[in-house]
Amino acid sequence: MVPNRIELSPSGPLRGEVVVPGDKSISHRSLLLNALARGEARIRGLLPSEDVRATLGAVRAMGVVVEEGPEIVVRSTGALAEPGDVLDCGNSGTSIRLLAGAVASEPMFVVLSGDASLRRRPMKRVLDPLRAMGARVDGRGGGDRAPIAVRGGELRGMDHDLAIASAQVKSALLLAGRRTGVRVREPARSRDHTERMLLGMGASLAVDADGWIGLEGGADLRAIDVDVPGDPSSAAFWLVAASLVPGSEVVLRRVGVNPTRSGILDALRLMGADITVEPVAAVGAEPVADLVVRHAPLRGARIDGDLALRSLDELVVLGVAAGFAEGETVIADAAELRVKESDRIAEVAKGLRALGIEVEERPDGMIIQGGAPRGPATIDAHGDHRVAMAFAVAGCVAGPVVVEGAATIATSYPEFLRDLEALRGHHHHG
Ligand code: S3P
Repeated sequence: MVPNRIELSPSGPLRGEVVVPGDKSISHRSLLLNALARGEARIRGLLPSEDVRATLGAVRAMGVVVEEGPEIVVRSTGALAEPGDVLDCGNSGTSIRLLAGAVASEPMFVVLSGDASLRRRPMKRVLDPLRAMGARVDGRGGGDRAPIAVRGGELRGMDHDLAIASAQVKSALLLAGRRTGVRVREPARSRDHTERMLLGMGASLAVDADGWIGLEGGADLRAIDVDVPGDPSSAAFWLVAASLVPGSEVVLRRVGVNPTRSGILDALRLMGADITVEPVAAVGAEPVADLVVRHAPLRGARIDGDLALRSLDELVVLGVAAGFAEGETVIADAAELRVKESDRIAEVAKGLRALGIEVEERPDGMIIQGGAPRGPATIDAHGDHRVAMAFAVAGCVAGPVVVEGAATIATSYPEFLRDLEALRGHHHHG
């Protein structure tokens, strides 16, 4: 349990090693895709967070065996059974959207819902294309909000030329099309963990020169063991914290460095960060590295286009980093931030202003005039785990900062405070 109110103040340098918890995106997929595959899979390093528990609970509710222990064992026939009740996806956009796609091709009725934040987020982006494939789907707000209802069945394979780059939508459509085949194209390449895992399971999938991802139908998906790498989105908090606190040197072990996720490394280096990447032999389909980060003064930079997409979830803590950097930082082409767990553009701007930093909001980003943020400040996490952790990091440099609503951190990083204390040299016992 993470306390709901935390207070952070500056203390000495951050030093030592962290094994950041398992990647959230890959954890969800290791459970759900193995549930759709035949056989038994062993998963090592699954992220034990609330979000991932939502996916775990959902696949169990559809008849898949999941045994929990030091390793997680998933056993499935590849077919799902109709759940007896609503599937509660909690705070997790990945759970609700990927599940919507996965169940759309099964002859059953499924209702998906979640917490207040999830019920505010747009679902049309996945429901409309599923409808076009022949699924009967509906939801509140003209079919755009959870709870959503899916009556699945035999679908038509088709081409989806998506207007937004979203790994959740892309993954939902690939899973929906796993029997008939499907083609999906995005305006820019979002994270590709689903494609990598499907390939590992024996699917025939290829990306053509025009960016069309083609999945052939009818493959007999085989369960595969997954070694979940550390989450770069969680590592990002330590990359920024160690960059900002003088005297810091932190080693982050076995972090996933899939190029569709590693924008945070490029963005921080652009800002002057001192980060060394030491590749480790890849386990499975995902590249992994140890990261070494040392304190370095940061300067403003422009983060847009592909770089913004490749550092999507890290733009929250990058916004905090920009507050401490010398000069102006522009974050652009990131309108999707407004429909995440919170409106992340508004929340980052609000938090930085509370620390005395000038921020101009744009529809698709923000312009931050870096300087010397100063507490005391109180930040409301607004139900968003990454807002809570990003401003906890700010408090380590310019506190005191109180974060209200910090319990949401358990969504993706239940041991965040323990790891912070360890890096600050206070060791927990018992
Ligand atoms: C995720 C994709 C991203 C990201 C989210 C996790 C995923 O959302 O923000 O935290 O696991 O597929 P998009 O659907 O905008 O790509």
